[in-house]
Amino acid sequence: MVYPTQAIINEVGPRDGLQNEKTPIPAALKIELIERLAAAGLTSIEATSFVSPRWVPQLADGAEVLAGVPRRPGLRYTALVPNLKGFEAARAAGADEVAVFVAASESFSRKNTNCSIAEALERCAPVLAAAAEAGMPVRGYISCIAGCPFEGEVSPARVGRLAGELHAMGCHQISLGDTIGVGTPRQIRAAIKAAAVHVPVERLIGHYHDTYGMALANVHASLEMGVFRFDSSVAGLGGCPYAPGATGNVATEDLAYLMRGLGIETGINMNKLVAVARWISAKIDRPAQSALALAWREQG
Ligand code: HMG
Ligand code: MG
Repeated sequence: MVYPTQAIINEVGPRDGLQNEKTPIPAALKIELIERLAAAGLTSIEATSFVSPRWVPQLADGAEVLAGVPRRPGLRYTALVPNLKGFEAARAAGADEVAVFVAASESFSRKNTNCSIAEALERCAPVLAAAAEAGMPVRGYISCIAGCPFEGEVSPARVGRLAGELHAMGCHQISLGDTIGVGTPRQIRAAIKAAAVHVPVERLIGHYHDTYGMALANVHASLEMGVFRFDSSVAGLGGCPYAPGATGNVATEDLAYLMRGLGIETGINMNKLVAVARWISAKIDRPAQSALALAWREQG
């Protein structure tokens, strides 16, 4: 196959990674993490979320974090929002982009957002309208594209329909989330194929949690389908507090190593990125969940 010359990596560690940490992390440490990620070459960073602080207390300091992060041309910050209230807070805090989220499973939708899939879509509509007026791009996440912690397998056709609805509502990119990391390349290909019926493939993003160690295989399967945008978390941080058993996203450093080996440009400095993975893992007192954090030897 012919690989793309470039892949776009969205670093979601500060949001998807840290949201699952039980011990409160000071805003200053979150800001330093983002500074170090930017210095390692990440240019698209999901910095925080503006959700109910009762549901995700760890990210209640989103405005403080966005007020402290470095700003320069080409460096962009996304904030995850569940509704108009979240959008308004994200905009006031200076997010460059927001991300809305729905699930491909009714049970997970209820657990994560206390509403049905249809209601979650309804909550997205005013966000998209307000964002269009403000000239802000909106990403759309679909969770549980391969499996749900409560319902098991999820139909690709449902993923495809939701991708089409989010795209038709105005989401410029659609992130396909294997929230609990159960998917294997066969399922991921089926989900991408179903989504690509409704959304140009270059607007799809692979968002794969690595719970079952399948994330890099799923990334490669996605490349074969023409997807070149991926979400990842430095040090493989995280998981979703409302998805029992889910661990973090594919580690950004492992993803970057794969891309480098395939001759795909990411703009990432491997030495600096692995150093960030080791540093944040030490700071939050947990082993880094990546192969590179163990294996990498500094290269000149
Ligand atoms: P609810 O309790 O049904 O909502 O929660 P409500 O409208 O009745 O509001 C309850 C309270 O929350 C009110 O405050 C609201 O003002 C407040 P009170 O009057 O009780 O003091 N509230 C807010 N506060 C701040 N910011 C807001 C906001 N909205 C309401 N935006 C809600 C519904 C959706 C708000 C809640 O369920 C929620 O916040 N859920 C988010 C859960 C979450 O963040 N999950 C993790 C992110 S998703 C994920 O990780 C998956 C992903 O990575 C992709 C993948 O891996 O698949 C994206
Ligand atoms: Mg996620």
